[in-house]
Formats: sequence, C-alpha cells, structure tokens
Amino acid sequence: MIVLGLESSCDETACAVVADGRRVLSSVVASQNELHEEYGGVVPEIASRAHVERLTPVLRAALDQAGVGLEQVEGVAVGHRPGLIGSLLVGVAAGKALSWSLGAPLVGVDHVHAHLYAGLLELGGANRAAAHEAGPRGREGPIDGAPRAAADAGDHTPAGLLPALGLVVSGGHTSMYAVGARDGTFLDMQRLGATIDDAIGEAFDKAGAILGLGFPGGPAVDRLAREAGANDRAVDLPISRLSPTSLDFSFSGLKTSLLYASRGGPGVAEAQRPTLSHERRRDLAASFQRASVAAVVLKLGRALGSLREGGIEPVSLIAGGGVTANSRLRSELKALSVREGLKLVLPPMSLCVDNAAMIAGLGTLMLRSGRRDGLELSPVPTTAC
Ligand code: KG4
Ligand code: ZN
Repeated sequence: MIVLGLESSCDETACAVVADGRRVLSSVVASQNELHEEYGGVVPEIASRAHVERLTPVLRAALDQAGVGLEQVEGVAVGHRPGLIGSLLVGVAAGKALSWSLGAPLVGVDHVHAHLYAGLLELGGANRAAAHEAGPRGREGPIDGAPRAAADAGDHTPAGLLPALGLVVSGGHTSMYAVGARDGTFLDMQRLGATIDDAIGEAFDKAGAILGLGFPGGPAVDRLAREAGANDRAVDLPISRLSPTSLDFSFSGLKTSLLYASRGGPGVAEAQRPTLSHERRRDLAASFQRASVAAVVLKLGRALGSLREGGIEPVSLIAGGGVTANSRLRSELKALSVREGLKLVLPPMSLCVDNAAMIAGLGTLMLRSGRRDGLELSPVPTTAC
C-alpha cells in the first residue's frame, strides 16, 4: 500500500511517500529555521504562511523522489493534532483536497504518536545515503534503525517489540506511553506522563539562547557539550523529580537554574554579570545536558517499575522526537536498555525531527485497521492523548 504523508504542525513543511507502512520511498522536509531565527522561536503567523508557499513544491519533490505518480497513491495521512492551529490547517486542507480529488482514503494522525513510529521505518536507497551524509539540519550521525527482526507479524503489529515503553522528546512534547499494553497493537497508546511545563526540546532551545548559541539551540548545546574537556559536573543543576512516584516531567526549574548559573546568581545586576568564556559556556552546556537527560532516564526507570508492578513486562523501549538526536540521550537510552533487558528502537537521525514519513507510516497502520476520516476532519491544536 502506497501512502502519502503530510506534516505541517509546527515549522517544518514535510511530505513523504511510504510503502507498506515501512519502506520510506521519499521524505522531504522544508525547515523554516531561517525565518524564525531572528525571533528566537517559532512565530505562528510566519509559519503558516510559509507552509502555504512550500507545501506544493515539497509535495512535488516527494513524489518525484519516490518515482510515484499521484494516481498510485492509495491513502493520504495527515498530521492533524497537536500543533499550531494555523500551521495544522494548511496540511489538513491539503490532505482533504488530495484525498477527495484522488478518491483515496484519508486519515488524521496524531503527531506525537507518529514520532514513536519513526524508529520502525526503513530508509532505502537515496534516503539511507542522505541520512548517512548529514543528519537533520546538517548534523552527522549514525543510523540506528529498528531491529531488523521487527518484521510485521500482522497488519498493524510490529513483531517482537510490544508491549513497549514509548518516549517522545521533542520541541513541543515530553511524554511517555505504554504501547500495545492492552491489545498488543501499535495503535494502542496509553499516556503515562507528560511535561507539566516546558518540553525538553524547548528547554534545550532556551539553554541555547541563554548561552548565545542561536536557534534552534538543541543541536548547538549538544555539539558544545561534546567538546573535548567539557565538564558536565561544573554546575550542579536540578534534576526534576516532582513527587516520589510522579511520571510527569518538569524542565522550567532547570532552565531558570541555568540562567542564574550563567549570570552568577539570581539577583545579579546586568553590569555585574560575568562574561561567559567559551570554556564556561561549554561546561554549562554539558551540565545542562547531563541534568536534562538524567531527568528523562529517571522517569523512564519509574515508568518501567510502574508497568511491571501492573503486570506488564515491556519488551522494548521505543523513542522518538527531535531530542532523540541528542548524543548523550542516545547513549544513555542504549545503556538503560541493556540494563533493563529491553530492545531499543531509535529513529535514524533524519527521522528524529519532524517529518512526514512517520505520519505516513502510522497512517498506513490506521488505514489498514479500517480507520477513515472524512472531509469534516479538523485540526486540533492541543491533545490530551
Ligand atoms: O520533533 P521536533 O522536530 O519538533 C516537535 O515536534 O516539537 O523537535 C525539535 C526539537 C527542537 O527543540 C530542537 O532543539 C531539538 O528537537 N533537538 C535537539 C537536538 N536536535 C534537535 N535537542 C537536543 N540535542 C539535539 N542534538
Ligand atoms: Zn514533532
């Protein structure tokens, strides 16, 4: 089954063609970083206008790269929640128009759930080569795809991976899920916890801004923290626990602590603030990265404990979202999986950040299970899923 995926929930305009819910025939992403950089964050009105301008060329490129004509498209999957309402509207309107004109079924896909599916996709040919050359936004990195053994057992269940503990860490979300704990399928997602304030990627971006590293800050903080000589214990930044059993996350306190550490204290007047040397910036970046990753690993440990207490033994840890590109998080997730005897599924670097292949992939599972949306499909800016 050939499914066209569309993604426009934030500041990436993306289209992809995926075969059989697994093979990525093309995945084209037009990022808008250059438009939002001067504001230090995504400006919703600018983002939606850019989606309108970019969607058609991105769609053409995705079809061309896949060598697929519109008449071959058997389903249309569109990310319809959550996200910026103006941005979502563009993709949803395009998805409906394509579905109606092609006579192909339409399905709206939850963007956060789709991040968890990214690691199950297989990059083939040119996609694989491109992902090896440079990761998202030019980062380099290895591909850690889903274990090859994870062949489809049925129409919508990746074999040998469920039940799983799912982790989504991105610019807009930080959540954990029990995946397939009730019916053994990937469509069964129960949210275990989520951030009560900032998302981890947002905190990385603010850390980047505090350290004067530009936007988005996440990749820059990662690069700086990896430099030789970086001391991740230079500053003792707080690892948020919330209550002793909480499965929720909080990153706003960490962000404020980094701000104070960079200024030399909470009430230090501007004239008295230290100038940050490169070494100090590097150490602050490493300390921030250590604390934020430790908070994620701590909550994953708690979630595993709580699932096991409830009689659910997860087989794998499936992670997704832009922050899974982070080098320290990737290595700590690997270590945690080894300790806990879990298979680890991480997306290839090019599918960590927002893309439409994950939408098409999860959309295929949904279409195969009989789910359909009509022309009444509406974008939903927030989600409680
Ligand atoms: O998944 P994504 O594209 O967008 C949302 O759905 O929100 O994630 C983007 C986020 C940004 O906050 C970016 O700074 C962060 O992912 N990010 C990173 C790294 N690469 C991207 N954060 C930390 N380390 C990285 N290497
Ligand atoms: Zn995302």
